[in-house]
Amino acid sequence: MKKAPQLDVVFRLATRKSISSIFQRVNHEPELSGSAHDSCTRGEVMQAIREKKIHLAYRGNTIVGVFWLTFYPTYAFLEIAFVEKKARRLGIFGKFIAFSETLMRNRKVCEIVCEVEAANTVMRKALRKNRWKEGDRFVFYNKMIA
Ligand SMILES: CC(C)(COP(=O)(O)OP(=O)(O)OC[C@H]1O[C@@H](n2cnc3c(N)ncnc32)[C@H](O)[C@@H]1OP(=O)(O)O)[C@@H](O)C(=O)NCCC(=O)NCCS
Repeated sequence: MKKAPQLDVVFRLATRKSISSIFQRVNHEPELSGSAHDSCTRGEVMQAIREKKIHLAYRGNTIVGVFWLTFYPTYAFLEIAFVEKKARRLGIFGKFIAFSETLMRNRKVCEIVCEVEAANTVMRKALRKNRWKEGDRFVFYNKMIA
């Protein structure tokens, strides 16, 4: 798909009123979790909103992406990157990465990291395209107790 010459997307911090849209999106994408039980609660989303960790991408009044970015003293962790199916491959992720780099410069943080399922070739390509380097591989483990 061809990229629009001027991508009309803006990023805004999420507010309480978007909690349902965020919750729905972050808990229903298999690529975003390590197992079927690995999901987040409304309370966690609410706390992340309060802590200004969640940015929403808008085209007009429509939410087209959710980005959950946590800042630590020396690095930033991209916990969730999600673009609506209909809005994919238009450069929204790339634009968020540029936006997050501005946030990092403002906070004097010079590293950003994330974890991606090895099978998620789309995200891995998107990261390479934005000049992220691939690091060591880890395997996800979990255990359910009765
Ligand atoms: C991964 C994701 C966030 C990318 O968002 P996006 O806005 O579509 O990405 P961009 O348009 O900025 O694409 C950047 C690059 O990624 C790669 N890419 C994106 N979609 C691709 C696809 N379907 N097939 C192959 N490469 C793809 C390309 O290299 C692309 O650059 P190009 O279009 O110039 O070739 C989006 O596909 C998504 O939300 N996926 C589901 C959730 C997910 O997997 N999140 C990551 C979990 S860690």
